[in-house]
Order: sequence, then C-alpha cells, then structure tokens
Amino acid sequence: MGQTLTEKILEDHLLDGELETGEEIGIEIDQVLTQDTTGTMVWLQFEALDLDEVQTEIAAQYCDHQTYQFDFKNTDDHRFLRSAAGTFGAHFSRPGNGICHNVHKENYAAPGKTLLGSDSHTPTPGGLGELAIGAGGLDIAVAMGGGPYYIEMPEIVNVRLEGELPEWATAKDVILEMLRRLSVKGGVGKVLEYTGPGVETLSAPERTTITNMGTELGATSSIFPTDERTEEYLEALGRGDEYVEVGPDEDAEYDDEITVDLSELEPLIAQPSMPDNIVPVREVAGTDVDQVIIGSCTNGGYEDVLPTAKMLEGREVDKKTDMIVAPASKQASEMLAREGWTAELMAAGVNFSESTCGPCIGIGHVPGSDSVSVRTFNRNFEGRSGIEDDSVYLCSPEVATAAAIKGELIDPRDLADELGDLEDPGFEMPDQYTGSKADLIPPEEAVDDDLIKGPNIADVPLKEPLDAEIGGEALLKMEDNITTDHIVPASSDILMYRSNIPKISEFTLSRVDDTFPERAQAADGGVLVAGENYGQGSSREHAALCPMYLGIEAVFAESFARIHKANLFNFGIVPYTIDEETYEKIEQGDDIEVVDDVQDGIASGKNEFTIRVNDDWEATARLDASEREREIVTAGGKLPYTKQQAEEG
Ligand code: F3S
Repeated sequence: MGQTLTEKILEDHLLDGELETGEEIGIEIDQVLTQDTTGTMVWLQFEALDLDEVQTEIAAQYCDHQTYQFDFKNTDDHRFLRSAAGTFGAHFSRPGNGICHNVHKENYAAPGKTLLGSDSHTPTPGGLGELAIGAGGLDIAVAMGGGPYYIEMPEIVNVRLEGELPEWATAKDVILEMLRRLSVKGGVGKVLEYTGPGVETLSAPERTTITNMGTELGATSSIFPTDERTEEYLEALGRGDEYVEVGPDEDAEYDDEITVDLSELEPLIAQPSMPDNIVPVREVAGTDVDQVIIGSCTNGGYEDVLPTAKMLEGREVDKKTDMIVAPASKQASEMLAREGWTAELMAAGVNFSESTCGPCIGIGHVPGSDSVSVRTFNRNFEGRSGIEDDSVYLCSPEVATAAAIKGELIDPRDLADELGDLEDPGFEMPDQYTGSKADLIPPEEAVDDDLIKGPNIADVPLKEPLDAEIGGEALLKMEDNITTDHIVPASSDILMYRSNIPKISEFTLSRVDDTFPERAQAADGGVLVAGENYGQGSSREHAALCPMYLGIEAVFAESFARIHKANLFNFGIVPYTIDEETYEKIEQGDDIEVVDDVQDGIASGKNEFTIRVNDDWEATARLDASEREREIVTAGGKLPYTKQQAEEG
C-alpha cells in the first residue's frame, strides 16, 4: 500500500512507536521555532533541564508578539531571549523583524523536514512541504535538547483540490470554505493533506495561507506536496538548493477525503466572533466598516499586500474608515518601500504599522466601541482585538480592501462593477525577494554568551508529584470553546508578565470570571469544569502553567483542544473527559472528588475513574492518555519527569 506524504515524513523521522492511527509515536525534530511570549518559558525550561546546547538543525527565536518596548519588561525579555539564543545556539530575530511564521518561511522552512514550534500557527510552512506542528514550550525545550516529540498518530485526510480559482476568489476563500464545511473542531486529531490538480494552480505563498489557517480547524497540521511552484518560490528567496520533491504515493490511502472545487468558490467572510462563522460577502454587504487591517501571519506577506496596493492605486480609503497595513515581515516592508508601493498606499490614506502580530492579539489598533473591524487575520475570538464585545470579520486582502474603498462590506465583484475600472489584482510573486538580513542574528554571530535576566524574569515553578487523592471545589464551570485567550488573556498589560508566573497567574481566567484568581488562591486547590473543545486557540502554555500555579489539580471537560491537553499533562493537571449529561449536572461550587486512587489508577493504565459529586451522586470520568503521558502527569509534569529520567540515566 502506498504512503501519504505525512506518513513518509513521519517514517523518516520515527524514533518510537508505529504509524497506527491513534497510537503514540515519538519523532525526531529537525527545526524548532519559538516566539517571545512563549520563548522566555522555553529557555527557562531549557535551562531548568540542565541542557546546554541546541541539538536541532535549526532553532529560531523570534520577537513578534510583544515588540513594543513600552516599559522595561518587554525590553528585558527581548534581551533575555537574545542572550538565550546566543548562549544555547539559536538564530535570533530582533523585535520588529517580522512574525515568526513569515520570517521562518522566508529563511528556514524546507520541504520534507519536521518543524516544532511554540505557536499554534506553526503549520504555516506546510505549504512548502514541511511537516510543521504547534506544541507547548516545554515540548519545544525537550525537542531542542535532542529529545523526541511525542504525538498521537493523526488521521490523514486527503483534501482534493480541483479546478482553478475564479476572479476575486483567493487562497483565503479556500480555507474559509473548509471552515464553513468542517467548523473549528473539524480538523481535530487530523493532518489535512492537500492533493489534486488544483494544487498546481496555487503558488507556494498562497498554499501557506491555507496551511496557516488549518489551525483554526483544530488540525494537527496541514501540508502540500512540493512541485515547480515550490521550487520557484525557494529560488526567488535565494534558497533554491533547499528544494526537494516530496509528495504522496499515487496509491496512498487516506482516512478520509474531501473535495473542494476551486472554480466554485466566491469571496467569503468570517463573521464575529468565530473563524467558522462563514458566509458569502454578498450576504453581509452594506455593513458599515470602521476599520480595516491588512496583515498577520495569514495574509501579511509581500504578495498579500500587493493586491491591496494595486486596488488602491489612484484611489482613496473611505473617509469614515481607518485602514492599517502591517506587513508580516521587514523583508516585505522593505520590498514594498523600495518598489514605491508604500508611498502609493500612504497617499491613499493607509496608516503603516510595524511588522509584528500587534492588533492580532489586541496590541495597538484596538477597534472603537460598538464598531466593525475587517481584518485579513485568522482569528476573531471575542475580545481578542483588545475590546470586549468586538465585531471582527476575517477575509482576504481583496475583500478587506474593497471594504476600505467603499466604507462598507461589499463583494469586490460588485465594487468592480460599480467602479468600472477596478480589476482583480490577481496573485503575483516577485522573481526575486530582496531585503536585508540585518535583523537576523545567526548563532555564529551571537552577541551574548551568558543569560541576562531582568527583575521580571522569575524561575519556573515546579509541581510536586500527583497526590493519591485529587478533587475539590469546581471553582469555575465554563461553556464550550473556551480559548487560551480566555484562560490567560493575550493583552499587552497581562502578557508583559509572561516571564513571571506568580504575577501573571493573578489574571488566570479573569475574562470568564474576575473573582476566579482570588477564589482559587484562597481555596488552595480545586478543579475546573468545561464544555467541548476546552483550550482551543494558541499553544500558550501559560494556560496550563497558571492554573497549576493556582493549585488546579484536574480539568473535567467534554473535550480538549490537542495542544492544550498536552500542556495540561506537561504541567501535572489531569485532563478528564466527561459526558454531556455529567457536564450539565455539575454546577459551579460543587465538590468533585475522584473516588479511585489516582496515582495507582493512572499508573496502571486505568481509563475510567469514578467521580463523586457533593457526596451525593457519581459519574464516570475518562482519562485518555498514553503510558508516557501517565508517567508525566503522575510525576507532577514534564519538567520533574524529564529531570527524573535524566537522573536515572
Ligand atoms: Fe501573531 Fe496572530 Fe499569527 S498573534 S503568530 S499574527 S495568529
């Protein structure tokens, strides 16, 4: 039987286990990436594990989430990250140099390699045939030290692309169509492998828009085969020698198949406040638009800004709409400036912004109250833009630019009819990408060889091994789809404490219930209850680390997002699954005790545990965990577990 591309790459990197769906496998990691909000913990954990040198082919530390140095904490973090990269042997990308996925794609991503990153949109270079997976920081630290990365062998789904995109439909509409069909849970436990005749109609950067936003489907990763379009892109980046052909066997068997006919797509838009709340733009046409932003790791590349620049040439942004362009990398910014597009855009009324995540996580360009913001980003979770009750729409640069010209949502096809002289700018890739590499510091040019820690950088807290008895008050009962942004909000005034767990823990789940941090501290232990897809969103391990610091011993949820579940194990919190009936019956404030001896039960491979609620009724809680995850959680988390293993030799 032939193999899928995913199976081929996994087999090439397999260190432990067998490629059987659902089985745990350990794989070798070739490249790692980390960014500033997760990176400080990665390096503090790397240090706590007594590791002294990066073992992967490439390790890259980016500063993209919190680039504004509005007080000493961010600046200290950046200096610490630079010093850690220099000390341990990683590449360092200075603040403002660009968003990790874009800079990584431009400089390091390579077909057939494995990439592990402490950011949920790590799968972006899947568009270049790299198998890229997002994970928690502790997993990154271990992989960077040369350890295997463990993951459940995913299902592999064949997404067959047919036809060719019609005018005004874009790669963004391909992934929005996938979200419309599958929802934010549709990709959980799966790798989406794109095949079919439609693949060659898309350039490599367009493919990375699709693989980037596979994360919103909950997918473990998304990947394309490579071909002359990939080679053309790598050559334009000056990295043609890194091209290798990778793809599935002709008779590869997949777990499932989905067909998308590109020729049937039309401009789509995600309405507030979930990326799968998709409708054709025509259905929401006429909605007043207060703000438009072009940027992010999804659609912030040079090739994404170019259509906007062409559409705005000789035109102006509507007077009641603010328009911001934030190219995703300095290379893109530099090219746009050198080619004169920056001046054209400015003349049209565009406000240029730094190459950073910024508004994607509510840092700068926060929408006004009761207003509509249209963005080319990948997420529009409520409050993520920096204001509660926001109204954020997600779409292609073409749809966003049409909205900026008109001052209201409009299908660009209708705007073209209305204006008479507006043409579909199409997708254009330069023959050669230019731009300086001054902001990228390779290990051999490192400026520091010792760690520099400012006063806001605290040691990583450690947890004791799990008790035989766990349980306590259900301190919070939450709904479905609680995101990591709900657990530890991504706003700048909170994330600046990311290197200081005692301090940042004071904000844990405060967006769900602002009394929670204080109640949790006073209770000195307890449990959380949630509906489906708990912990979706980013890979932010603070979302497990902070509850651990506050004494949370277990989370009882109907289901968990993959990376967050791994993070819970990594920080010694037991992720139990409960059924809908049990979820409905439990109330906040109830006392939930696990009846069985937890240490023994977990260690012996037990899957079903009895819980007693208020000493009144009982139900079953499932623990789906590999042997290794069981050892990790009983040891109190991956840090004590890995240290313990190293001591045992
Ligand atoms: Fe940054 Fe937003 Fe992407 S936070 S990494 S631009 S999803």
